[in-house]
Amino acid sequence: MNTEKQRQAIIATAHRRYATKKYDPTKHISTADWQTILEVGRLSPSSFGYEPWQFVLIDSDQVKQDIKPFSWGAVNSINGADKLLLILARTDVSYDSAYVARLVSDVKGHIYSKSSPVSQNFKHFQENDLQLDSPRARFDWAAKQCYIAMANMMTAAAELGIDSCPIEGFNYRQMNQYLKVHHLADTKHWRAAVMVSFGYRDQPIKPKVRQPLSAIYRTI
Ligand SMILES: Cc1cc2nc3c(=O)[nH]c(=O)nc-3n(C[C@H](O)[C@H](O)[C@H](O)COP(=O)(O)O)c2cc1C
Repeated sequence: MNTEKQRQAIIATAHRRYATKKYDPTKHISTADWQTILEVGRLSPSSFGYEPWQFVLIDSDQVKQDIKPFSWGAVNSINGADKLLLILARTDVSYDSAYVARLVSDVKGHIYSKSSPVSQNFKHFQENDLQLDSPRARFDWAAKQCYIAMANMMTAAAELGIDSCPIEGFNYRQMNQYLKVHHLADTKHWRAAVMVSFGYRDQPIKPKVRQPLSAIYRTI
């Protein structure tokens, strides 16, 4: 049985996490804390366990300045956050892709075959249940999973007393074009899903403004 203290600690973490607008650029995340946040991202759940993500740390000042003009939602983070992470989503996760074949054989250690029950279940799931009938739908499905990893990383950061900000305020077409032109990503297979920054705030945490539970939760 969990204690009231544990429950309160979880809620306190949820209040502590907020979308940081002003970071203190002089404060840095320790290597151990950063590795912990990344590890939580790595351990995140994904559909069928196919991990359709890549975590790209934007460390280069040049890159940060280059993307600023089309990344309005990231300007505060670029100006002060210690870490700016771009999460890329895989574009072509399907039962017969080389990507899934590699994941199944190299990561999961199973024998891969397009005709295996797992592969065929996955095909049916994607095509019939989710109706992923376009490259865009497939990308969006992969990107949803990137958001799960991002959320887990932000919660872990809050637990560690580290602030964060989720960022989708940028021009996706220009970002992908930038990554392609500068050979920073294989944009045929990987495209920008979302960004997230981490660091230490230079502002008070704003109290949460949310709908009451009664407006968003019901039982059927
Ligand atoms: C998917 C997503 C994208 C967001 N994009 C941005 C962004 O580009 N820039 C920004 O400053 N905040 C961004 N936010 C932060 C939200 O505005 C913020 O989470 C929301 O207003 C609730 O406030 P809180 O996170 O401080 O509780 C984003 C949040 C989410 C979940």
